[in-house]
Amino acid sequence: MTKQNSHEKRPLLLEIKEICKSFVSKKSVVKAVDRVSFNIHKGETYALVGESGCGKTTTGRMILRLLDVDKGQILFEGIPISTLTKRQLRKKRHNIQIIFQNPYGSLNPRMKISTLLAEAISSRAENPSHIRAEAERLLQSVGLGKENLDKYPHEFSGGQRQRICIARAIATNPKLIICDEPVSALDLLVQAQILSLLQKLQKEYGFSYLFISHDLSVVRYMSDRIGVMCNGRIVEEGTRDEIFENPQHSYTRLLFASLPTLKNADAFAAADIQEDTEIFQKVLRDVKERSNKKIYVSQTHYLLADQ
Ligand SMILES: Nc1ncnc2c1ncn2[C@@H]1O[C@H](COP(=O)(O)OP(=O)(O)O)[C@@H](O)[C@H]1O
Ligand SMILES: [Mg+2]
Repeated sequence: MTKQNSHEKRPLLLEIKEICKSFVSKKSVVKAVDRVSFNIHKGETYALVGESGCGKTTTGRMILRLLDVDKGQILFEGIPISTLTKRQLRKKRHNIQIIFQNPYGSLNPRMKISTLLAEAISSRAENPSHIRAEAERLLQSVGLGKENLDKYPHEFSGGQRQRICIARAIATNPKLIICDEPVSALDLLVQAQILSLLQKLQKEYGFSYLFISHDLSVVRYMSDRIGVMCNGRIVEEGTRDEIFENPQHSYTRLLFASLPTLKNADAFAAADIQEDTEIFQKVLRDVKERSNKKIYVSQTHYLLADQ
């Protein structure tokens, strides 16, 4: 069985049901996330892909409860985390971790790596005498030697800092890691190394990823299933192969058309579409107005209907 279809047999970890989030300012209301639903199974990588501003980060922040949902529900192992109190949430917090695009911004520059990791390790009440040994083990599992424990974040390269953030994320034994554009700020070669590290760790520890990215080639490499986001909505969802080999929604096709090096891009008359930004704007507007009716291409593949 390939990794791709094996997810269906695994238990559910995260269920997102029709969540909405608007940001209201004096001038306008931005519907950042609009009736978004998807599930993530244990050990699975679900990717949210879409252009900048389509609502990916806002979705991740609601799962972490850094933002409250306006409507809808988020269940983690069957428990509605979107309505837990702060106290109940604290007990669950170690289960969900995040890795950001900018590893420097998320590491306190005044803390040694040993302290940064110790903080995370102690959240699962490890025996204090084991903390340093555990920090060494974590660094090793992300490909860094123990001599790095007494250094500060500025002494590392961007890729090494991202490895430290990954070590800190796995320190709490999470069940889900949200990766929000985790390699977008890195050089291509370093990107590949970090992505393969993330895959190796998933095999070792068995956690699930919500992998957020605007980069289709990264998503193709990482994901089991994909939700294509456009203007706050998921317009198409399917397994990686279904989305890449048989994209159905006009927005998904536009995304692929903007990547001429990908196999299949030719099939969608890329040149015609690419030059016509009006079509693009129309797709964006239409998506906003659509109902939640789905058209199923297969059991695992749907697109949002036109009406
Ligand atoms: N705190 C905020 N206040 C106001 N608007 C926001 C806030 N966060 C995000 N937005 C808006 O919500 C939309 C979705 O943003 P975001 O979730 O960051 O998208 P993405 O991660 O896909 O680039 C954008 O239009 C963005 O400007
Ligand atoms: Mg974002």
